[in-house]
Amino acid sequence: MISPKIVVTGKIPQPGIDLLSTAGEVWAWNQDDPIPHEIRDAQLANADAVVTILTDTVDDAFLTAAPNLKIVANVAVGYNNIDVDACTRREIMVTNTPGVLTDATADLAMGLLLMVTRRLGEGERLIRSETPWKWGMFMMLGSGLQGRQLGIIGMGGIGQALALRARAFGMSIVYHNRNAVDSKIEQALDARRCDLDELLATSDVVSLNCPYSEDTHHLIDAEAMRTMRNDAVLVNTARGPIVDEAALVEALSTGVIGAAALDVFEHEPEVHPGLIGLDNVVLVPHLGSATVETRTAMATLAARNVVGFYDGTGPLTPVN
Ligand code: DGY
Repeated sequence: MISPKIVVTGKIPQPGIDLLSTAGEVWAWNQDDPIPHEIRDAQLANADAVVTILTDTVDDAFLTAAPNLKIVANVAVGYNNIDVDACTRREIMVTNTPGVLTDATADLAMGLLLMVTRRLGEGERLIRSETPWKWGMFMMLGSGLQGRQLGIIGMGGIGQALALRARAFGMSIVYHNRNAVDSKIEQALDARRCDLDELLATSDVVSLNCPYSEDTHHLIDAEAMRTMRNDAVLVNTARGPIVDEAALVEALSTGVIGAAALDVFEHEPEVHPGLIGLDNVVLVPHLGSATVETRTAMATLAARNVVGFYDGTGPLTPVN
């Protein structure tokens, strides 16, 4: 059999490349900057498999450039960068990387929650600005998490892993999800399912852990923020466009909600200029899965999906 040509459109950890090389002939973009479209399309012209990263947009134009394509293996759990219906119509398999980034992303969400409620970003900025300061009884008081309610929107693996961490900090958990999670998991996490309005109206912290789709576009808009408590904290480690970022700037500036912590942005990598000057928001650059171990596991799982596709055992984590 002729060896399949596998194109990797973004820089990924070497173990992923090594594993892919057991399945076919690999061409990999190996620079930090995004691959220019003309180079990408020249490689796609005779690609059988493609390994993508979340900044690739796999749309009709991409697929048209790749007439032989059989599988798109995304190195991310989210696959909103891929037009899955268009792939299915062309009988192209799509895979993602669930599971392996659950702990890293939940750790980051917990870290953001602590940063924002204990005002750690503000504290860092104070020291780094070399502003004179001294300890004060009322200096930079935040709020504790013990006895507070965390409302999790999207109770998949990452939502559950965040709930586990938040329970250890003494928080109570409510969640909103299309389906109830297994009752054993609900019991273990002492988590109660409720509707979105109740979650928004009663939670001290609202965490977004759902996938992005047409249904969740601007799920948190001006009205949703008005439903939230005016001391509530919003944490987003899912996808930027779930939040109406302009409405968030307005809500944070006018006291409609208390604070926010964002790992993802509506027009990533742009960040709404109105967020930059606000002290009640923590901003980090999409670091949810950014550990050496996790990124290696993601690349390896994507590569296993391609290997499984060609050796007949099948991809481990198909999407379509
Ligand atoms: C994903 O895999 O979808 C994450 O956003 C990457 O950090």
